Formats: sequence, C-alpha cells, structure tokens
Amino acid sequence: MRPFTFINVASSVDGKISNEKRIQLRISCEEDLRRVDELRAKSDAIMVGIGTVLSDNPKLTVKSEELRKRRLAEGRDENPIRVVVDSKCRIPLDAKVLDNSAKTIVAVSNLANLEKVEALRKMGVDVFVAGNNKVDLKALVEYLYNLGVKILMVEGGATLNWAMLKEGLVDEIYIYYGNMIVGGKDSPTVVDGTSFDPPIKLELIGVEKLGFGVLTRWRILR
Ligand SMILES: NC(=O)c1ccc[n+]([C@@H]2O[C@H](COP(=O)([O-])OP(=O)(O)OC[C@H]3O[C@@H](n4cnc5c(N)ncnc54)[C@H](OP(=O)(O)O)[C@@H]3O)[C@@H](O)[C@H]2O)c1
Repeated sequence: MRPFTFINVASSVDGKISNEKRIQLRISCEEDLRRVDELRAKSDAIMVGIGTVLSDNPKLTVKSEELRKRRLAEGRDENPIRVVVDSKCRIPLDAKVLDNSAKTIVAVSNLANLEKVEALRKMGVDVFVAGNNKVDLKALVEYLYNLGVKILMVEGGATLNWAMLKEGLVDEIYIYYGNMIVGGKDSPTVVDGTSFDPPIKLELIGVEKLGFGVLTRWRILR
C-alpha cells in the first residue's frame, strides 16, 4: 500500500523549473503560493530530493497561521512530515528542513555515511535506510503509508519527479505555468532523468487562469 501521491511544480512556459545555476526562481504568483500552502496543509507529508535542499534550502512548512491552526483543530500536527530523499546523507546539519518546526525523515541508502546518520538521529531526525545506491522509493512510500501518511505531496526537483514517475508512484501532477521563459538546455525541467518509452499518458482534470499564469492538473494514466 502507498499514499495518494501528487507532484506539484512551478514551471516556466518552456518547461524549466530553475535555470542552469539551479538557483530558486520566483515562477509562482501570490495566488499560486497560497494554493501551494493549502496543498501542503492538506498533505500528511511533503517530499523533496536532496538536490532541492542543497540549492533552495526550503523549510517546507505551512506558511499560513490560519491553516496551521486548522490542522491543529483537526487533531493533526501543525505541519506535515518533511521527507528528504538523500542516498549519501549529504544534507547539511543546519538545513532549514531539519529545524524543529516539524518532524523530518531523511531517507538514505546503504551509501550513507554512518557518522552523519548518527548525528541526524541525535538531533531527533528519523533516518530511514533502504536501497542500494539510490533510495528505494517503493520501500520509502510504503514506510510512510504505515506511519499514517495517506496524502503525499512531492515538491521536486526534476530528478525526484522523474524517479517517482518511473517507479509508478504518482497519481496526479499539478503544474503552474508562470508568465516567463527561462531557456537553457541545462536548466532543470519539470521531469529530467531519461525519457519514458512509451511516454506516460495523462488525463487533463483541471485548467484555470491563476494570477499571471495557468494552473494545469493532470491524472497519471496506467
Ligand atoms: N519550480 C519548482 O517548483 C521547483 C521545485 C523544487 C525544486 N526546483 C528546482 O529543482 C532543482 C533541483 O532538482 P534536481 O533534479 O537537481 O534535484 P532533486 O530532484 O531535488 O534531487 C535529486 C537527488 O535525489 C537523490 N536521490 C536519492 N534517491 C533517489 C532515487 N531513487 N531517484 C532519484 N533521485 C534520488 C539523488 O542524489 P543522491 O544520489 O546524492 O542521493 C538525486 O540527485 C533546483 O534547481 C531547484 O531550484 C524547482
């Protein structure tokens, strides 16, 4: 068993989620940031790849106080569980995602440095070990499901999005297209990795103008 899983991503019109410097770009508008916050508030866990932690250093918490209060009133934690997919345990110990505003799970493989794993555990971080070389994503989502995670939000980046789709672990993908073209053949895209053959087919389940851009919502067909 695995959670209902969706990817949420902000993309330029040409499909890029950052530029080749891999710095965080402001692609979303205020309206979209509020929508993303609501998605976070509805989710039981939020997952990112280590590439995103190293380049953006996100905190991955619910920004709106009202939404956090609503979660508490529902008997849930103020913030969803944060999950970092990080085979070699490269996460900096001062990463914002490791602060004490929410529970964090760092998923590593057998390549992880054991001293670093121990240091994380001493900080109260839950370290889940599965996989040779890369993290075993199927084992990870099953572990999360057994912890009570029924709704999982994947917030990138390009490589983790690809890997989750490749493993067949994604139900829906929401792409907000901001009003810009980024360009650059080495800029990360919504989905990197190697191409899917045949391509993964989607069903369009929603499209709306939002701020200066367009939100599209798609269901993955199997
Ligand atoms: N616009 C947006 O919505 C948005 C959202 C998020 C990120 N971003 C951008 O995306 C870029 C980061 O994307 P990225 O592709 O470099 O990194 P990423 O997808 O965040 O992380 C990928 C890394 O995860 C680790 N990993 C562990 N197990 C894995 C597995 N089974 N499959 C795949 N990866 C696994 C690998 O590193 P190890 O082998 O070292 O573990 C891999 O390199 C940044 O530029 C960031 O700004 C944009």
